[in-house]
Amino acid sequence: MKNVLVLNGSPRENGNTKKLSEAFITRCIQRGFDVKKYNIPNMNIDECNDCGRCFEEDKPCIIEDDFNLIAEDLVKSDVIVFCLPVYFYSIPGKFKMFIDRLMCFQEGNKNISDKLFAIISCCEDKDMSNFDGVRVPLERLGRDFGWILLDEILAPGMARKGDIENTDGIRRAKELADKIV
Ligand SMILES: Cc1cc2nc3c(=O)[nH]c(=O)nc-3n(C[C@H](O)[C@H](O)[C@H](O)COP(=O)(O)O)c2cc1C
Repeated sequence: MKNVLVLNGSPRENGNTKKLSEAFITRCIQRGFDVKKYNIPNMNIDECNDCGRCFEEDKPCIIEDDFNLIAEDLVKSDVIVFCLPVYFYSIPGKFKMFIDRLMCFQEGNKNISDKLFAIISCCEDKDMSNFDGVRVPLERLGRDFGWILLDEILAPGMARKGDIENTDGIRRAKELADKIV
């Protein structure tokens, strides 16, 4: 049985990114996978302050917030799916704070390889280069950790809630779940 970790970075309720992640999750559950989902914007996550005390006290980070909870599930996961909109050509602030906290695994020399990962992202513009600031850092992060990129579902032209319904995004999100073997 696969452990799938879904990390939502969109603060917008019922937005396009969430619709895609929900379609993905539904299909994962149909396939019998164990899915854990976190809505990062609703969580108590501080920024990495480069204190250099990673994995002291037998936990990834010494900051007392929700990060260690997610980190525990990340270690257990076989598949990690980053779901986030493009905010000013980049990763939304709170999600970036979460990403920076993953530094503890590098600093602590912890091997968390042998995972698949995927990116689900939405932006308003039709120009696919808007995704570069989301896609490139996450692709490189995955490479640094030794993860294999399963796929990317990038949905341009998403301005209003529900726009994703008029695209093939939902189908592609379900197909992403079908690619997990
Ligand atoms: C603060 C902010 C910055 C944004 N910056 C961009 C951008 O740089 N490029 C773009 O194409 N869309 C941008 N958008 C639009 C969102 O990426 C788009 O509406 C997306 O569908 C939002 O995802 P959601 O429906 O899951 O909330 C921005 C939206 C917000 C609120």
